Amino acid sequence: MERENFGNRFGVLVAMAGSAIGLGNLWRFPYLVGSYGGAAFVFVYIFCVFLLCLPIFMSEVIVGRRSHANAYGAFKKLAPGTKWKWLGAVSVVTPIIVVSYYSVVGGWSVEYFFKALTLEFTAGATQAEMGTMFGRFISSVWAPITGHTIFLLLTAFIIIAGVKSGIEKFGKVMMPLLFVLIIFIAVRAATLPGAGEGLKYLFQPDFSKIDASVCAAALGQAFFSLSLGVGTILTYGSYVSRNENIIASSTYTATADFLFAMLASCAIMPAVFAFGLNPQEGPGLVFETLPFIFANMPLGWLVAILFFLALIVAALTSSISLYEVGVAYLVEERKFSRRGASVLVFLIAWVLGILCSLSFGPLSDLHIFGQTIFNFFDKLSANVLMPVGGLLLVIFVGWVMKKADVLDEMTNGGSLPGNRRISGFIYFLIRYICPLAVAAVFLSALIF
Ligand code: TRP
Repeated sequence: MERENFGNRFGVLVAMAGSAIGLGNLWRFPYLVGSYGGAAFVFVYIFCVFLLCLPIFMSEVIVGRRSHANAYGAFKKLAPGTKWKWLGAVSVVTPIIVVSYYSVVGGWSVEYFFKALTLEFTAGATQAEMGTMFGRFISSVWAPITGHTIFLLLTAFIIIAGVKSGIEKFGKVMMPLLFVLIIFIAVRAATLPGAGEGLKYLFQPDFSKIDASVCAAALGQAFFSLSLGVGTILTYGSYVSRNENIIASSTYTATADFLFAMLASCAIMPAVFAFGLNPQEGPGLVFETLPFIFANMPLGWLVAILFFLALIVAALTSSISLYEVGVAYLVEERKFSRRGASVLVFLIAWVLGILCSLSFGPLSDLHIFGQTIFNFFDKLSANVLMPVGGLLLVIFVGWVMKKADVLDEMTNGGSLPGNRRISGFIYFLIRYICPLAVAAVFLSALIF
């Protein structure tokens, strides 16, 4: 069977940016900024994204495009008969774990979108009431499972439609819409009285706040936000055609992802400060603090609807990238039909997701290594599987693949003069700097 490719450069960009931009930008990044000291965290994050993670991103695209195969097949093709195929195997399993808990949070967004539509965030509500509402919701049985199911079904429908007419088409409509939505919300937030403090918090770094834990959190977030280390970018890279410019597409994606994270923070932090709230709310920021703000600000009902719509859209374009990894594997290595593969991935992710969801309620006492199921999945993938996967992947590109092949991918056989000039530097980052830095941060996180 002919392998599909993305249609053009814009298609590649929206698909990759769609994968990158997600709950990581709207939900995780703002609360990390809040917990790790504001602009100082942003400052470290910029280094992590552009100096360390962007070369890893390019490496994943290179492995994908060089092999034109799924995450498992890629290593079998590029390093036949070696143990590297095990990295491929892990890269197929991890995204299914991630998509299961990702879809639970996607389901929360679906529920909150409906709450916003039915005007449940009413003026006069206190923040404590919003907290109680959220706590009650996630610890219940049926409502969050329903949200998870709806969200995962939406993901499956887009996947079944295919690479070009599903993933790419959806991204082309949704990614521009997403930027329009977030800009509108950011402008509304930045013009609230008292918003200036929030902007200062975001843009005026206090360098004394930078320490090892800030660096580890920033690098972890950069990995998560760029979808690295678990085969998603590799799989999307395998749909990139020979004449696309890998360095350019990767750089645009990282830039769009960073800009979106900043826009999301500009939508959230000023409002938090304008209402005199604590920015260090943690994971509850989006589902507890924001609804309170929406309930009490002019035009808040509209902003609430748009915000949760944006959250669903952003999460969907990411969850399809996670889902596609398993589907590509099953279709190419196990000879499934696309539909059959989608159904199987759905069933696995659905069951695992239900367990995650229940771990906020009836299963909250069930612990794996001292963590609830949801936290265990989250920590295992974000703190272990992603960094280790990313580390092994850059080592593969920097030390196992032939240098000539890597440069060939970066310059399209030498035909891109601009890329020829910088490819040596990028190769140096891939071979020495990225593995050392990622290993150092990973180890320091284990030790402290
Ligand atoms: N990057 C997405 C986000 O920021 C989530 C995501 C998609 C992801 N694919 C991934 C995270 C692969 C880790 C690994 O929300």
